[in-house]
Amino acid sequence: MSVPSGPSTRLIHHPYTPPVGFNAPQPGVFKASTVIFPSVAALQARNWKDKGGYTYGLHGTPSTFLLEERIATLEGGRDTLLVPSGLAAITLVDMALLQSGDEVLIPDNAYGPGKELARQELSRWGITHRFYDAMNTDALAAMISPATKLVWLEAAGSITMEFPDLPGLVRVARSRGVLTALDNTWGAGLAFNAFDLGDGLGVDISAHALTKFPSGGGDVLMGSVTTRDTELHLRLKGTHMRMGWGVGANDVEAVLRALPSLSLRYAAQDAASRVLALWWQRQPQVSQVLHPALEGSAGHAHWKHLCSQAAGLFSVVFDERYPRDQVHAFIDKLKLFKLGYSWAGPVSLVVPYDFAVIRPASAWRGPLVRFSIGLEDVQDLQDDLAAALRSSFG
Ligand SMILES: Cc1ncc(COP(=O)(O)O)c(C=O)c1O
Repeated sequence: MSVPSGPSTRLIHHPYTPPVGFNAPQPGVFKASTVIFPSVAALQARNWKDKGGYTYGLHGTPSTFLLEERIATLEGGRDTLLVPSGLAAITLVDMALLQSGDEVLIPDNAYGPGKELARQELSRWGITHRFYDAMNTDALAAMISPATKLVWLEAAGSITMEFPDLPGLVRVARSRGVLTALDNTWGAGLAFNAFDLGDGLGVDISAHALTKFPSGGGDVLMGSVTTRDTELHLRLKGTHMRMGWGVGANDVEAVLRALPSLSLRYAAQDAASRVLALWWQRQPQVSQVLHPALEGSAGHAHWKHLCSQAAGLFSVVFDERYPRDQVHAFIDKLKLFKLGYSWAGPVSLVVPYDFAVIRPASAWRGPLVRFSIGLEDVQDLQDDLAAALRSSFG
């Protein structure tokens, strides 16, 4: 073919390729929908099942493969799939493993939108669900029926922070031949190894909201699903592929950039959170501080048995004699703590919850406030809390 003369063609099909072998601490970013095959034979021989090659941007680029491998290593698994959010990770597991007539068991203190997914979508598709008391292994054993195909786990539980007997729950599910999936966002692959809980026990699937600690910036939404068993991975991967759940290269880049500081941030946020949780225990307005690393918190012994660390996250229950409005006024007075959902980013966050909505069966009554501790200096955070408490409670 003659040398193209049109300006667009000359730019689009420019012959220069940079030399290979460029090396730098941060990996390159690869963006693609189309992946170019060298020949029809190569296109026809494409294989989506492993990382032996590339087929289409949705199913893998060097950037997504790299992040998948790093998350698999972080979690102690073998294979990881990336999805557009932590909630999408939960959805992927449910959609890949359940069908009409099946039942899924979900902890009553699980992440709320995952429960809502079961109430709304799964039930429309003929998949039933029941919520179990995550602190009662026998209760789970009694609930498993021939229809039960999946048991969700979460440690610590969302908002109320109970730490379950994870190995005990896994043992029960495994003894009945039921798959287990853990929402591992709190542990982040650091506080404990979900695939190795001791005594040869481990979860089958770890779902992780990379939005939280792995991103660390409060500026990315992403999730992952990690497994050790190849067959199970391929089941999940098939659904992942057919649902078209891709992630953007810029977001992948942001998470790859944040991973080297993950364990430092997790430890710093853990340390600051414990200082503040202990401070809250000394405040007379509060009847209970919910943090699994504190003596007296639900499941503290299970946390101690399994974990070396804790996420920078806790809740406080105000004494029920205080009206909700007074607690809301306290929140509105905070300057450094920002009012908003999510956690594990650099900015400390606060959200009020109503037990009547999140845990209608709970014995607690007082207003609950959840704190996510960021990376600010802990004394400044404590001063912020103290000032807001003084001005709203006197
Ligand atoms: C425990 C837990 N799992 C999953 C999610 C969902 O993550 P995302 O916000 O990325 O959908 C969240 C979000 O707050 C969470 O707290």
